[in-house]
Amino acid sequence: MLSEKLRQARAFEEQYMPFLPPEERPAFHVTGGIGWINDPNGFSCYRGEYHLFYQYHPYSTSWGPMHWGHVKTDDFIHWERLPIALVPDEDYDGDGCFSGSAVELPDGRQLLMYTGVHRVRQEDGAVKEYQTQCLAAGDGVNYEKVAGNPVLAGPDLPEGGSELDFRDPKIWREDGMFYAVVGNRTPDGSGAILLYESEDGFHWTYAATLDASRNQYGRMWECPDFFSLDGKQVLLVSPQEMTPVGLEFHAGNGTVCLLGRYDRASHQFTRQQVQAVDYGIDFYAPQTLLTPDGRRIMIAWMQNWDTSGCKPQGTRWFGQMTLPRELHVRDGRLIQNPVRELEHIRTGRVAYRNVMLHGESNLYGVSGRMIDLTVTVRPASPSSLYQCFKLHLAKDGEHETIIRYKPECSTVRVDRTRGGFPHDIVHVRDFLAAQRQGEIKLRVILDRYSLELFVNDGEQAASFVLYTPVSASSISFETDGAVLLDVEKYDLIAYEGCERDGTETL
Ligand code: FRU
Repeated sequence: MLSEKLRQARAFEEQYMPFLPPEERPAFHVTGGIGWINDPNGFSCYRGEYHLFYQYHPYSTSWGPMHWGHVKTDDFIHWERLPIALVPDEDYDGDGCFSGSAVELPDGRQLLMYTGVHRVRQEDGAVKEYQTQCLAAGDGVNYEKVAGNPVLAGPDLPEGGSELDFRDPKIWREDGMFYAVVGNRTPDGSGAILLYESEDGFHWTYAATLDASRNQYGRMWECPDFFSLDGKQVLLVSPQEMTPVGLEFHAGNGTVCLLGRYDRASHQFTRQQVQAVDYGIDFYAPQTLLTPDGRRIMIAWMQNWDTSGCKPQGTRWFGQMTLPRELHVRDGRLIQNPVRELEHIRTGRVAYRNVMLHGESNLYGVSGRMIDLTVTVRPASPSSLYQCFKLHLAKDGEHETIIRYKPECSTVRVDRTRGGFPHDIVHVRDFLAAQRQGEIKLRVILDRYSLELFVNDGEQAASFVLYTPVSASSISFETDGAVLLDVEKYDLIAYEGCERDGTETL
């Protein structure tokens, strides 16, 4: 039975979504139907397809009572839009269906686990918020919230756990058991990740606290994910109120990768390394899934709470996801590269090898705003290291975004100050890349309103939203010394709002 509120939300989307022309959105990055989106939710395989839900407020381009929007894909590039899956229509979630995840049940249904938010006015007039974990089961389109909701609440917390900050369950199934990691706060006010287990997916018990910030890596830890990869155990968390450490983290909301060992019998996670996941401005709350061919794929909200108030006037949609990325662990670091399916939409290859560059120059055929561009830079002679190399992108007389590399300190800087933003929020990020005698490889994916950079085959990734007009499509290369360039560029052509196998795609 669909609630009245869900019917209304679906009808609203159907009525107003057609007024948003596809060419005003990214071509192959997920956006909401209309309105506002934040975190990816329920990123999972179900009946042989990949489903993605997202935090959604269809009624405005600002955050509001959270719904779950829904898309699915078979290749991570072409996404089919499905009707809104969840709306806040019960007592226990009437103030929002916050982030959560999905898993396929043995009986063939899809189980969604999410945070229900409800606020209660106290005697003194103050409002107290409760966050609990809730379930809904369905067929991949329609979902019914279960009678036993909430399935995890205050009494299921370890001693001192916070009932106010208890959210974002990430569920998975392993060896016949269900597990979920959930973000929480310890009495010191900072984040912790709790592990729960269940035999049937419906009845849950607390198993362990996997790790805690102890005020070292930010305060509340949101949106956890926990999985093994290349012989390591990975715990992803998105802390609030981070403090920078050199160039490794940046202030505010960020995402951190804790790499370690995991003893499954005792549920003990031992942290060994810690790193930022993305060195750009716009990346938060990632979720991963495991494909049938064994790839760990991550997708994130390509935004940041600290800068999300800045958008051009008249915007009809707000928020997009990153490109799904394939993850590995190499030499104790998380490696990320665009999902390989992106190669299926590459066309119009333009390639140059050993181009000698002095000063600033364009290369014939190298331009565009929906492109996959790889540039390898080397010093022209081993004896003379250049000071600086710059790649100018999304450029016209007024706009540009610059990727700069300084080999001496091996820092990469991305500067989108002239990327079309209406306000002077943070627009510059610096980060370290491996020092390789002045050689660096930069892979850039542009999709109209974003730039994602992958350095040295995925050793660092950095994501940025752009509001640059799409007509600003020039690219130039610049150095103060002499460098040799290898350049390979493809246009990326996704089907837009057109028929493919009879389904409407984004
Ligand atoms: C992270 C987050 C989650 C919460 C959701 C609400 O971006 O704050 O912790 O579930 O957004 O929309």
